Amino acid sequence: MTTYSVDELVVPATMNDDPATVQSFRDWLAVSDAAEVGVHGLPELAWTPEEYLPMCHEPGAPSRLFAVRDTDGAVVAAGSYDTKQEAGTTNCWLAAGVAPEHQRRGIGTLLADHLEGVARADGRTQWKTYAVSRQVGPAAGPGYVQAPTGFGAVPVDEAGVRFLTARGWRFGQVNRISRLPLPADHSVVRELHDRASAAAGPDYRVHSWTGRTPGEWLDGIALLETRMSTDAPSGDMAEPEDVWTAERLRAHEEELARAPRSMLTVAVEHVPTTTLAGFTQLAVPDDPARPAMQWDTLVLREHRGHRLGWLLKVVGIEELERSFPGRPSIVTFNAEENRPMLDVNEAVGFTGVGCEGIWERRV
Ligand SMILES: CC(C)(COP(=O)(O)OP(=O)(O)OC[C@H]1O[C@@H](n2cnc3c(N)ncnc32)[C@H](O)[C@@H]1OP(=O)(O)O)[C@@H](O)C(=O)NCCC(=O)NCCS
Repeated sequence: MTTYSVDELVVPATMNDDPATVQSFRDWLAVSDAAEVGVHGLPELAWTPEEYLPMCHEPGAPSRLFAVRDTDGAVVAAGSYDTKQEAGTTNCWLAAGVAPEHQRRGIGTLLADHLEGVARADGRTQWKTYAVSRQVGPAAGPGYVQAPTGFGAVPVDEAGVRFLTARGWRFGQVNRISRLPLPADHSVVRELHDRASAAAGPDYRVHSWTGRTPGEWLDGIALLETRMSTDAPSGDMAEPEDVWTAERLRAHEEELARAPRSMLTVAVEHVPTTTLAGFTQLAVPDDPARPAMQWDTLVLREHRGHRLGWLLKVVGIEELERSFPGRPSIVTFNAEENRPMLDVNEAVGFTGVGCEGIWERRV
């Protein structure tokens, strides 16, 4: 009979680390990706190990990775535990995925028990997980669990939904996964750009750059990163404020720069105060066959209502196509209740391709 055991990986420092360490990491990521692609059917969202590794080395919050192996030592499930190391931290993120061909044998339970044990031992009391789902249209009725935000739903019949519910996790929010095939319709993007610029008026000016944040905008981007934790919709699962400083931002950028991709940032300056009012970031793989991922997008609360979200989005598309031609698509995740963001995405041609349930457990 096959027996399964959980072990913690040594996360390689780089992809040139000891070959056995690197191979375990590759196997872990392949299983993690396979579990998610098995649900949403979007192979475009699978990570390459080279892209994923630097994200495991987030300064002050290194990822801990766990593998379930069978008797032969093959990885059959992949788990992760993420939290800031700073004293007083109460929250953490867990993730578990079982290779599709090994599901329903108790492996997910073994891994989740282990991860929750790690969180408990670490004194974390507010746990979150992001569980992908297949695309759910607006007409979701019976057969779906509605999000308590009133926006979005996940299918009742999905393994992750059943699994998390049975373990006492609470479903809190839905992210829509949207995809824009490239090239975008340039006449639409141009027209939206003109309208957004006119609405924003002379008080706002757009800047964009690739790679490290220019010195003059370091504090501005650090503030925007901080406000991602307080100003972006998070249902009723509000997380503690996550403070970014210029030093933390630099260390984070140094780490991300190790990945074979470029970070394209578009930011809007509020001219009268010479401060940043909003930003968006696109992670663009060096490999032109891979999609660009649109990461954080935020307009500070006090600057909302000036079409700055539209401006950021269309300039991001234009800059991406100019500087990195030939990418197949842009993929982005947005809260289903974030109507202003979904409006601009829909207007430029993004369509929903999948969902992500955000689940919480407080202990
Ligand atoms: C969710 C997931 C981790 C479960 O892993 P697993 O090894 O199949 O889970 P287990 O065998 O330990 O199942 C435990 C319980 O979950 C529920 N469950 C799991 N899969 C289910 C399915 N396909 N249908 C109905 N219930 C299911 C059942 O209550 C099951 O208990 P039972 O078998 O005694 O009825 C796995 O399906 C997976 O990797 N899914 C994709 C990634 C994901 O959604 N992760 C979410 C967690 S972060």
